[in-house]
Amino acid sequence: MSFVVWNDRISVEVEELDADHKKMVEMINDLYDAILAGNGRKNLDRLLDRLVDYTRYHFAREEAWMERIGFPDLAAHKQEHEKMAAWINTAWRDYHSNTAMAPSLETMNLLKDWLFGHILGSDQKYAAFQRERVIQGSRAAATP
Ligand SMILES: [Fe+2]
Ligand SMILES: [Fe+2]
Repeated sequence: MSFVVWNDRISVEVEELDADHKKMVEMINDLYDAILAGNGRKNLDRLLDRLVDYTRYHFAREEAWMERIGFPDLAAHKQEHEKMAAWINTAWRDYHSNTAMAPSLETMNLLKDWLFGHILGSDQKYAAFQRERVIQGSRAAATP
């Protein structure tokens, strides 16, 4: 069974950004499976590196999208991304600096909340903004 499951409720209605979120869910599941399987540290390091890199890549793509649609809360959203990036970097550093063979399950739960809390909260705000924009656009187009 998967540790985290993507569902339509968390869709931001942008295909490429949903695909990114799905990929992040998959990466967290891979990490969890690797911990349960007692995989070697090298493998866990690789999976965590991949997640950290992908997170950076996704944030940049998402910020570019918000800019494109003129999302008014872009600055606050960017700040939240910075905090999230700092959190994962700290968690990563902590894991590296002690002798733990794997990130703890507590860390995995925090990681789950870290991702889902943001997608359900802040990411949904740009989705709602875009939805409204499309509605207004079609209304304007329909006006003779
Ligand atoms: Fe996102
Ligand atoms: Fe975001």
